[in-house]
Amino acid sequence: MCGIVAYLGEKNAYEVVIKGLQRLEYRGYDSSGVAIHKDKSVNIYKQKGKVQDLIDFASDKDTNGNLAIGHTRWATHGLPNNVNAHPHQSSNGKISLVHNGIIENYSVLKKELEQRGYKFLSETDTEVLVHLIGDIHKNGKQSLFDSVRLALNEVIGAYAIVVISDENPDELIAARKSSPLVVGLGQGEYFCASDATPIIEYTKNVVYLEDGEIAHISLKNGLKLKTIGNQNKTPYIQELEMHLEALEKGGYEHFMLKEIYEQPKSILDSMRGRFSISQGKVVLGGILDYEEKLINAKRLIFVACGTSWHAGLVGEYLFEEIARIPVEVEYASEFRYRNPIINEDDVVIAISQSGETADTLAAIKIAKERKATLIGICNVVGSSISRETHCGSYTHAGPEIGVASTKAFTAQVTILTLMAMMIGRRKGTITNERFNRLLVELNAIPEKLKTVLKENDLIEKIAKIYHKSTNALYLGRGINFPLALEGALKLKEISYIHAEGYPAAEMKHGPIALIDEEMPVFVIATKDSSYEKIVSNIQEVKARKGKVIAIVSHGDKEVKKIANHYIEIPKCDELLVPLLATVPLQLLSYHIALMRECNVDQPRNLAKSVTVE
Ligand code: F6R
Repeated sequence: MCGIVAYLGEKNAYEVVIKGLQRLEYRGYDSSGVAIHKDKSVNIYKQKGKVQDLIDFASDKDTNGNLAIGHTRWATHGLPNNVNAHPHQSSNGKISLVHNGIIENYSVLKKELEQRGYKFLSETDTEVLVHLIGDIHKNGKQSLFDSVRLALNEVIGAYAIVVISDENPDELIAARKSSPLVVGLGQGEYFCASDATPIIEYTKNVVYLEDGEIAHISLKNGLKLKTIGNQNKTPYIQELEMHLEALEKGGYEHFMLKEIYEQPKSILDSMRGRFSISQGKVVLGGILDYEEKLINAKRLIFVACGTSWHAGLVGEYLFEEIARIPVEVEYASEFRYRNPIINEDDVVIAISQSGETADTLAAIKIAKERKATLIGICNVVGSSISRETHCGSYTHAGPEIGVASTKAFTAQVTILTLMAMMIGRRKGTITNERFNRLLVELNAIPEKLKTVLKENDLIEKIAKIYHKSTNALYLGRGINFPLALEGALKLKEISYIHAEGYPAAEMKHGPIALIDEEMPVFVIATKDSSYEKIVSNIQEVKARKGKVIAIVSHGDKEVKKIANHYIEIPKCDELLVPLLATVPLQLLSYHIALMRECNVDQPRNLAKSVTVE
């Protein structure tokens, strides 16, 4: 949430920063701003709305300069408007700052500063921090670097910040705690950003700042790192593996559509090199050292949020069925505040696309204190969760830029399937025959998914019929129940239609009262062990005049006869249905949102990578 970018070098800094902000726009898009150093002063331009609004606003302004910071905002404190947009400045206007995170003790600090005569222009927590830095700089005669460092010692909360001053055209100061920040090292130029996407175009060499670290960056002296406690640190330079094409739309109208279509590849990439059909084995190298812990675990606890939490629910079915380990799936935000009972022989698995979700990160920190083994399933390499966990498996889905998660979900389910199989095999809770069959079926999923994607035109037609609905219900049973939740979430978040997901059998305990001829009911009704039951559930909906849109297996006869519409997916082992059946639900939401003229890549009020609680 909130994206920050900074540049120091010989290029036009504004252009680099603006391009970077556009790449980070998925992190927040209610307002944006830049501060550009020019001749011992700073030009600040801010604008409510998208980065494009800022570009339009600044088009006739002076945007020259070689040092700049920029910010794209997702509001926490204060409305999205020009005043609350970042950068914010110290009271003498000499120091400018961009911030991602939340200063939790801002009201106490604000009161103190107000008593000392400071006037606040905005409603943001960030302005407190910049006044505090300015105050230390002015009164203590400290260098800017030490003023930032000392101010951060007074702050409680989360931050990634970059600071510049009028007085020095060759100085960037950057620091982080609980919000991500990457420093890029080019040839005679430096970059800072919330993630590597604004940097990759210019250099592959990056340093991920650790919590509590502060960087002093200048062309003269390079990058120097310290802790905010003033201890020297050696920067650890890593090489990025990301490719620029992965950050472009590649001919698709939206990132979401591109990412939906990428799923045959992202699933393949997530499986690649991790199993062998001829040898009948699965090896997730990243967790090998902790395999015994998993085998002997009394219980697994999945912690996650949103779509990743739904992947966890699918994982519950997979692990209980294949590896016979009891699983609890927890909303990270609830788990962390509940004084949860965690033992040393528990294994906590954090699932997160971004690897930065604040609640998930906090949940695993609690589990770590209580000595559980921590495993991460993350998509972003080098992210906080991947570093905080003992071991893990990356999903290799590639950058996910559409705010609504699609390919990350199927990649997470792929990893969970492989993990459950690897442990089930070692524990002997799955027969060789079933294991080998499942492996062959898993291997075939990317090709089968291509067939599902061919249903796009049909799905668009169905979307056209229902895009004006005000409510929708999603039903599934067993391992498909989490898909009902995920389908409903996708529809809500990008088309703003109220939707609910339910286990199909629960319908008669309440939600059936909602059904009338206006209500579309999306049902995952593939040919599996609960097929007969779901057919009865569909009959119940039909008897109340609800409209049924069913996802069925190729060759289905019964559901096809009674559903108003159906979308066929290839037959597969019932444990693998989530990998196929999710995709029509994603496409349905996509088309419905488009027909309602919603911004599918940047839905209102949302942002990707939720780094605030
Ligand atoms: C929904 C969505 C969110 C995320 C959630 C967790 O489409 O994208 O619900 O799944 O914010 O994010 P990660 O996986 O980055 O921890």
